[in-house]
Amino acid sequence: MSIEQDLEARLASAPVVPLIGASDIGVAVQTANALSTGGLSIIEVVLRTDEAVDCMEAIVKQTSGLIVGAGTVLTVAQAEEVIARGAQFVVCPGLVDGVAEYCLKQNVPLYAGTMTAGEVQRAYALGLRTVKFFPASLAGGVPMLKALSSVFREMRFMPTGGVSASNLDEFLALPSVIACGGSWLTPAAAIDAGDYEVITNLAREAVEIAGAARP
Ligand code: 3PG
Repeated sequence: MSIEQDLEARLASAPVVPLIGASDIGVAVQTANALSTGGLSIIEVVLRTDEAVDCMEAIVKQTSGLIVGAGTVLTVAQAEEVIARGAQFVVCPGLVDGVAEYCLKQNVPLYAGTMTAGEVQRAYALGLRTVKFFPASLAGGVPMLKALSSVFREMRFMPTGGVSASNLDEFLALPSVIACGGSWLTPAAAIDAGDYEVITNLAREAVEIAGAARP
């Protein structure tokens, strides 16, 4: 099974991608394990700290059963680095042709951020068939996504940015949504307090919401 097929199969049963923003390897690994215990096995580690790539690599090496990707990837050099260090998928806030071309060439699934018809069309022209929709709530939320989905009929979307337990079901109700991403599953307060049970419970709640939205 290719990584893309594995990702799609897992997202079909638990269409939620939690974000981890960490600067400590131990914390990152514990957070990933807490999410996994709660039923989420696809993890995006965002490159927003100097230690993020080390944290991502540690999760890859020290956990099992997870698919780990890198998010907030801005440049081709970063895409090369994260893939070399074990990222199985790449997420960008926007669409950069060079990053898209590199990931396609490497056969690494890419979720590039889009928020307008022009960006989705450019992603389509580059050969992408799944994109991130970011920042989902500010970019028009569900109504905008419905409008984009009606014209880009082959495109699937991963709304991220402002998604939470309170609106997850609305996004998942759209057939074009492959999954939702978000940081609501890894609240800084719980991580700072070392309360990983909170994270496991948030993951379980998300899995339940998804199950009800897509029976
Ligand atoms: C992202 O990188 O995708 C967003 O910053 C996530 O947005 P959120 O924090 O609102 O979930």
